[in-house]
Amino acid sequence: MKITVETNSGVFDFECEATDKLLYAGLTRGLTLPYECATGTCGTCRGRIMQGSAHIDWDQAPGFAKLKRDKGDVLMCQARPSSDCLVRVPARVVARSGCGTLPQHRTAHIDALRKLTRDVVHFELALSRPMSFEAGQFVVLEAPEVKGGRAYSMVNFGREVDRLVFVIKQKAGGAFSDWVFRNDIAGRTVDVFGPLGRATFHPKEGKNILCIAGGSGIAGMLSIIERAAREDYFRDHTGHVFFGVRTLEDGFYLSELCDFAAQTEGRLKVTLALSHEQSPAAVHPEFPHIRLMDGLVADAAQQTMSGRYDNMVGFVAGPPIMVDGALRVLIREARLPPQFVRYDKFS
Ligand SMILES: Cc1cc2nc3c(=O)[nH]c(=O)nc-3n(C[C@H](O)[C@H](O)[C@H](O)COP(=O)(O)OP(=O)(O)OC[C@H]3O[C@@H](n4cnc5c(N)ncnc54)[C@H](O)[C@@H]3O)c2cc1C
Ligand code: FES
Repeated sequence: MKITVETNSGVFDFECEATDKLLYAGLTRGLTLPYECATGTCGTCRGRIMQGSAHIDWDQAPGFAKLKRDKGDVLMCQARPSSDCLVRVPARVVARSGCGTLPQHRTAHIDALRKLTRDVVHFELALSRPMSFEAGQFVVLEAPEVKGGRAYSMVNFGREVDRLVFVIKQKAGGAFSDWVFRNDIAGRTVDVFGPLGRATFHPKEGKNILCIAGGSGIAGMLSIIERAAREDYFRDHTGHVFFGVRTLEDGFYLSELCDFAAQTEGRLKVTLALSHEQSPAAVHPEFPHIRLMDGLVADAAQQTMSGRYDNMVGFVAGPPIMVDGALRVLIREARLPPQFVRYDKFS
């Protein structure tokens, strides 16, 4: 079906199958349509259907809260066209082309499942076709057994890779995480749409790196640190990773983080902040390059970084409350310009 989008910066056309979402089809064609979560919670992908009609996949999506549905507003990440459509999108949009990281649908097999803590699992996907992505990006996974898509950030980094690495934290009563934790899902097939997301690291910007992550929010930070380490970025720049978990036992990927820090002669510093337990020492008993602090991860970052925000880009990911706390630090205290504050809320 033909979709025409009227935006603040021009009119664009693209084709969208009845089985695809307006947002995904537009992004695949290189349009920089607005979105954040790509899965129905944030409300950023608002469009108004002026002509034509669309089926809404998830009618109760929280992202609808601020939309005027009686006027034709839809979440483009939940809308599949049932006819040709004219959609008004109140944002500046441009058409990108010739870029190797435009999102597409792929299929993949689940592989290499490994429990990291009592409620965190590492898993890998073997892709039907290789994918290139930026460090810090995510994909949306859809499993036939679970209604709707879920966003997961890549832990690895690469160009034309045929495997993606993820970490998933169990959410009480959560449909996708229950599916992962309660079934033997090795070998199952999922649909993968991506890469997505703008909380990305670009070495050419030449900035010092500050990462603040809560729980599985560490996924994208590992991708960023892997990319930086591959390019010997910490020879000329500093990096700080603040990783928030409840107790010492809840930490994961510590061996990888410790190894990255060990390679940089002190220019990459890693801190594990424990919110529900007093740390037993100033340094992790098993990982000597990981410092321990007590309290919320945003507070740990604030205490440590005060007055050291020079030439910095900040990355934040994790539960929404944690992300909001960290953004307050980066915007109000560090006064980083908005283009150097990048985040993903794991809602
Ligand atoms: C950009 C981004 C990156 C993320 N990266 C990670 C990560 O690396 N690791 C990690 O553990 N978590 C990550 N998350 C969170 C993850 O996407 C899930 O929200 C989380 O795993 C809980 O999913 P669930 O199905 O268990 O919980 P549920 O409560 O069942 O679902 C959570 C989310 O799934 C969607 N959803 C729920 N029901 C429906 C439905 N009927 N139809 C369509 N959609 C529905 C909504 O977006 C909802 O907020 C990320 C989130 C975002 C936005
Ligand atoms: S991008 Fe559609 S609701 Fe978040």
